[in-house]
Amino acid sequence: MRKHLFIGGEWKEAKSYSDLLSPYTGERIAAIGQADEQDVDDAITAAREAAAVMRRLPAHERAAILERAAAIMERRKEELALLLASEAAKPVKTGRTEIARTIQTYKFAAEEAKRIHGETVPLDAAPGGEGRLAFTQRKPIGVVGAITPFNFPFNLVAHKVGPALAAGNTVVLKPAGQTPLSALALGEIFSEAGLPAGALNVIPGKGAIVGEKLVRDDRIAAITFTGSPEVGIAMKSKAGLKRVTLELGSNSALMIDESAEITDELIGRCVTGAFSFSGQVCISIQRIYVQETRYEEFTSKFVAATEQLRTGNPLDEDTDISALISPKEADRISEWVEAAVIEGAVVMCGGRKLEDGVYLPTVLTNVAPSSSVSCQEVFGPVVTVQPFNEIAEAIDAVNHSRFGLQAGIYTNNLQTALRAAEEIEVGGVMINDIPTFRVDQMPYGGVKDSGIGREGVKYAVEEMTELKLISVKML
Ligand code: SIN
Repeated sequence: MRKHLFIGGEWKEAKSYSDLLSPYTGERIAAIGQADEQDVDDAITAAREAAAVMRRLPAHERAAILERAAAIMERRKEELALLLASEAAKPVKTGRTEIARTIQTYKFAAEEAKRIHGETVPLDAAPGGEGRLAFTQRKPIGVVGAITPFNFPFNLVAHKVGPALAAGNTVVLKPAGQTPLSALALGEIFSEAGLPAGALNVIPGKGAIVGEKLVRDDRIAAITFTGSPEVGIAMKSKAGLKRVTLELGSNSALMIDESAEITDELIGRCVTGAFSFSGQVCISIQRIYVQETRYEEFTSKFVAATEQLRTGNPLDEDTDISALISPKEADRISEWVEAAVIEGAVVMCGGRKLEDGVYLPTVLTNVAPSSSVSCQEVFGPVVTVQPFNEIAEAIDAVNHSRFGLQAGIYTNNLQTALRAAEEIEVGGVMINDIPTFRVDQMPYGGVKDSGIGREGVKYAVEEMTELKLISVKML
């Protein structure tokens, strides 16, 4: 199967193609066209031309296109979940959840398209401002460059494409190297949904060519990126005056204080939060801090539940954990866990990789805070569990991180909950839930090295629109 580039509403042959391999079997799935500089230029030109069409499209028509795209995805949902299993090794049951969320994200975008508005401004609050009627409007920003990761190939793309189109913008999308098929399928879906040609362009290719040009080209008004802090920070430094939204990951923490009962539901949430899609999730639980009186009980129940997870082929209905996105990632995680063990960590379960690219779900205790598995983003199925005495100590440990995306705390003590909410340095605090909680309309984004700006459709629309003031002087 050869997949071409999607530019200006048409499939365009690339000058070179590269093999896309299954992370689980290593077999060739497809040959993917790789955009060169000229292709990126053509995609930006197409998006610029379409921007003039999109900005004139009434809100109800933009909403209808997004609704139709959601309906097409609903019709194709099983095929799309299988696509995720084949290109990302996402277990098919986890893939189905992603597709359901994606459909919802596009529906939220359709609704949001109909309520983009400004406000009146009381200019007479300042001397000299009398006798005027003033109001703001939110205008489309123009062409959005979207650079997306492999871990949610449909839904994190939806969080960029949905709000951009809702706001009347156009998009040039560079999907992650390992997950181009889902992004190219989106090209088909939006064509069928009646999106004007050029409003969505999908150009897989190398970061050094495609990403670099999108970030530097003056015709791109905004960059929205999800990926590593290193790449995101470099992008921001090259982006000039473009708007830049960066969602850069985390080593998310959960605290459990002694007032919280260790229920099956809590353990189940922790297992899901730590190991869903093998921890390749920016808000995956990486560090768990448990008050000493609950520590033994929590750790033994959590390890026992983790050992129930089934590893295997992502296409099997029963599989919870499949191959990591690449063998290189499995090697890196092995090295980090081995280094932690040398520094004194105890492996409670897992702690090794299997032949088929799978890394076993791993629980570590007695981990030094300076170990990479604690202070860097693992992006794999590894979680540390540490005891604490006083809540202040746990809050300090959570904040002792370069990241600050989301955190969670289980407690029955209102004071403790509110104190944690106040003092933890993150973009979102989940009280009585895991840091991995996300529904797609909520504001989502981080502080510190976790990024800048917010996603969640309404908030992304704000990032992708210009506020314009209109003042009318009464004569
Ligand atoms: C992410 O990995 O940043 C996205 C997590 C999610 O949408 O659940």
